[in-house]
Formats: sequence, C-alpha cells, structure tokens
Amino acid sequence: MSRHYKHDIVIIGAGAAGLTLALELADQYRVAVLTKADIREGSTLYAQGGVAAVLSDKDTIDSHISDTIDAGVDLGDPDAIRFTVEHSKESIDWLIAQGVPFTRYGESEEYHLTKEGGHSHRRIIHSADATGLAISKTLIKNASNHPNIDFFPDRVAIDIVTTKKLGISGPNRAVGVYALNLDDDVIDVFHGRFISLACGGSSKVYLYTSNPDTASGDGIAMAWRAGCRVANMEFNQFHPTCLYDAKAKTFLISEAVRGEGGKLLLPDGTRFMSKFDKREELAPRDIVARAIDHEMKRLGIHHVLLDISHKDPEFIKEHFPTIYKRCLEFGHDMTKGPIPVVPAAHYTCGGVVVDKHSATDIDNLYAIGETAYTGLHGANRLASNSLLECIVFARSAANHISEMVVLTDDITIPDWDESKVTNSDEDVVITHNWQELRRFMWDYVGIVRTDKRLLRAKHRVDLLLSEIQEFYANYKVSNDLLELRNLAVVADLIIRSAMSRKESRGLHFTLDYPNKLDTSSPTILTPNKH
Ligand code: FAD
Ligand code: SIN
Repeated sequence: MSRHYKHDIVIIGAGAAGLTLALELADQYRVAVLTKADIREGSTLYAQGGVAAVLSDKDTIDSHISDTIDAGVDLGDPDAIRFTVEHSKESIDWLIAQGVPFTRYGESEEYHLTKEGGHSHRRIIHSADATGLAISKTLIKNASNHPNIDFFPDRVAIDIVTTKKLGISGPNRAVGVYALNLDDDVIDVFHGRFISLACGGSSKVYLYTSNPDTASGDGIAMAWRAGCRVANMEFNQFHPTCLYDAKAKTFLISEAVRGEGGKLLLPDGTRFMSKFDKREELAPRDIVARAIDHEMKRLGIHHVLLDISHKDPEFIKEHFPTIYKRCLEFGHDMTKGPIPVVPAAHYTCGGVVVDKHSATDIDNLYAIGETAYTGLHGANRLASNSLLECIVFARSAANHISEMVVLTDDITIPDWDESKVTNSDEDVVITHNWQELRRFMWDYVGIVRTDKRLLRAKHRVDLLLSEIQEFYANYKVSNDLLELRNLAVVADLIIRSAMSRKESRGLHFTLDYPNKLDTSSPTILTPNKH
C-alpha cells in the first residue's frame, strides 16, 4: 500500500535549482524535496568553474548578453537571455546572503573573478575549483534548518499525477507525484498544490559523461509523458576536457584551467587550437570539443594534452586544489607537465519548455535548472551560465507561485496499482539495454553526426522503447528500470530533434549538412504529434 504525503509544494531534486526554490518558498509554504539518491548527489555538487554574472565595473550587461548569444550561435531567445543576465547580480547577492564562501582576491573584500571560454570579460565568481560543493553545502544546511522543508532522500519520482490522468475534466493540472522508496520498494504518493521538476540533465544517455549517475533525464521524460513540450534536445554539450584515465570515471578538468592560461597540445607537444578558432583554447566549448575530436580521429590517438605547468605551482595549487589533488591521485602532476584529456557529455541545453516564470505547459507544474528549456542557451551553453540559470529561474518560479491563489485541494490520488505486475525474472534485459543505449548514443549521436548514423540510432531506440514498455507493463519497477525507461525517452527525443535539424549549428554538427542556415529556429517537439 502506498504512503501518502501532503505538502503545498513538491520539488523533485535538490541541486542548485531545487534548493533555491525550496528556500524561497519555505517561509510561506510547506515544501517536500525528493531526491533519487543521497541529498547532496547531483551535478551541482561537482560544479567546478563557477557562476557567470556581471559583477565588475569593467563588464556590462550587454557584453554578457552578446557573449551568450554568440556561444548559442544566434539560437538563444533574446528575452530569456536579457532576463537572465539582468538578474545575475541579484542572484549572486542572494547566494552570498545564503552564506556561499566565494573566493576573494587575497586578503581583500573583493571577489576573484575568473574567465572561461566564450566570455569576453572576467565574470565567473567561484569558490576555488569547487563552486558546486560550496553552493550545495550552504543551501542544504539552510534548507535542513528550515522547519517547513522536509527532505525525502532515496525516493525516485516515477511520474507526475495530473488531473487529466485522474479523469478529472477542466484544464490539465499537476497534483502529485508517484515515487519509489528505495528503502522498502513501496511506491509513495506525494500530493502537492504545485510541483516542480528540478531533476538536472540527461548526459548519462551517453557512454562517457562528466555527470553523476543522477543525470538520467528523469525530469524531461516525466514532463514529456505528462504532456509537456520539449525543445532543443539535439544540443547536448560535450565538455572538451575530462581527465583521460580509466579509473578516474571522466573527472572534469575545469575550463577555468584554460581560462588561467592552460594550453591544449598534441602528443608531440604542438598546439593546435589556432587552426580551428582565433580564440584558440578559449573558443566556445562546441568548437574546442570538435577540434579535439577531429585531432583524435585524424591521428588515431586516445586523448590530447592540457598543459598549465608553465604557471607558478603555488598559483595552480591555490586556484585548482581539487583538480590538482585528484590528478595527482591518478599519477598526473599538473604543476610539472601536461595531463591527458578527452571530451565527454556534459550538459543538456534543451529540456522542458518553460516561460520566464519557469511554468510548463501544464498548470501548477514548473521545471527549473538543467531540466528546463528557458531559451537561454540556444545551440550551445556559455560556460558557467547554467548555475546562474538555476538561481534566476528558481527565484522567478518562487515569485510566480507566491502570487498565485492557493487552491484548496480535495483531489484523491489512488495508490500505485501493482495488481498486474510480478517480480522480474530477467534483469539482464535491463543491463543489456542500458549498455547498448549509451554506446549507440555515443557512437551515432555524439559530437559528429550523419543522417545514416542518426537513422541507425533511431531504429535501435524504437526497438528499445517497445521492449522497455513491455517490461514496464509486466514487472515491478526498480530504479534501474525507471532510469532506463527515462533514458530511452530522452535518447528518442535527442535523435528526433537531431534528425529534424538540416544544418550544423553549435553543438549539433552533421557531415551531411556542414553549414549553418541563414535563419533557424529552436526544435520544439510536442507529445502525441509524431
Ligand atoms: P542537479 O544539481 O543535477 O540536481 C538534480 C537533482 O534531481 C538531484 O537531487 C537528483 O537526486 C534529483 N533527481 C533526479 N531525478 C530524480 C527522480 N526521478 N526522483 C527524485 N529525484 C531526482 N555549471 C556552471 O554554471 N558552472 C560550473 O562551473 C559548472 N561545472 C560543472 C562541472 C561538472 C562536473 C558538471 C557535471 C556540471 C557542471 N556545471 C556547471 C553544470 C551545472 O552544475 C548543472 O547544470 C547544475 O548544477 C544543474 O543543477 P540542477 O539543480 O538543475 O540539477
Ligand atoms: C567548468 O568548470 O569547466 C565547467 C563550467 C560549466 O560547465 O559551466
């Protein structure tokens, strides 16, 4: 039998986006925060470089806007970009007021700003090279101390409950969430007047990723199944520099290393980025990742090198303590010589279509953070714009929710129905399909695409979707099955979006249409219209 919990707001996810929303609403409302693993686990925890914002007198709002538009190759929504950048300073002030310990210039009161690819100014505020850890720790501490916030770790949200699904007439409205409790395998029901998806991205759909295991696209898949539009899924960002070491599990080497002077080299020590872009190592990520991929394929090598050893070792250890120590654990001393790096899937630029208040197509359902498509990123995300987006849009959602009349809800959500399912007798189906999906996405839908590769991927994902659906209908759910089901939905959305874009732009590069069209628009997919 399901347990039933009632809150005003149910937030799925405790990264920068979910925690900001929770903290902004908790004085007024009772808030439940669900996480599929430990409360801290998620991309936010691992963010290194920092948060982009206009903080220096030498910088301007227009410059940050123009860099964002350029990085997104003119596909970003100008209104969303301006909205985000104009709210950047107050978002950083909010984080500082929460107690986030950003790095200062030496002993001074002034905050240190670093630089990353695509930015024409130093505008990345950071906490050494572990900004996400600092944000996550601070916000979790504050949320844990708030009497109106209840955390529910190890609860895997399965699907959003809407009035339409319950057969209630009138405009479709979100009223709750079914979630698997990993402690006892019971499926709980969370009732909420407002529901927010803050589940992070979907980079785990690729074999090699900088992301933690939570990034399986659950929020995007749940919203899609509930009836929301999804946009720009063909634009998955590959971070150019992850440590190449079988044991390191694609550990990220922050772009700030290149921002502070790190150079990319071929195995013979020659630099190569000038062949691809005049901004060299500080070109936007899509260009750097593609250049590395090109050189690796051309020379048949497994990695390139990143070298910052010309800098003072004390500078390196002070600015990049986490990266320095981690590399050393794997036998690479970045103060003494170059380290091996490769690109890996890093960020989902597309997601659930939302407006400036983070509202989705379904009433009372919001999507924030990496799960959402706000229009900010266009065809490629400018480095360190995502944590900013999490804070700006979570605060905007909180304002919107606070202004809404609170509904008195007498809706009954039934227990999860397990009467027609049995325990699975063949879990190998899940592990096999899991590996196959992530491998073909890497091989066929990765940094360089072709029509043929996409078609191959489409055939495979169609087959997987039907196998998974059959499995889901007949067997009890498990975390692995739920993730696989969501990854397959996300893979399908990525492939379909990529197939529909007949040009190369930003993160979507195809050998069949290598040029950019003169005019272009976002790819928007609508459920039940395919
Ligand atoms: P996340 O922080 O990923 O949190 C997702 C939450 O959703 C988790 O709590 C998870 O448990 C929960 N969840 C997911 N599915 C379910 C489910 N079904 N049921 C219940 N809970 C669920 N961006 C920057 O701007 N600057 C940086 O320097 C930077 N560095 C990065 C470095 C790394 C290594 C990585 C991986 C990313 C980096 N990014 C950076 C990107 C940025 O960290 C993320 O986009 C951002 O943190 C996403 O925050 P979020 O709140 O949307 O999701
Ligand atoms: C990094 O530190 O390179 C990651 C920054 C980001 O993903 O925005």
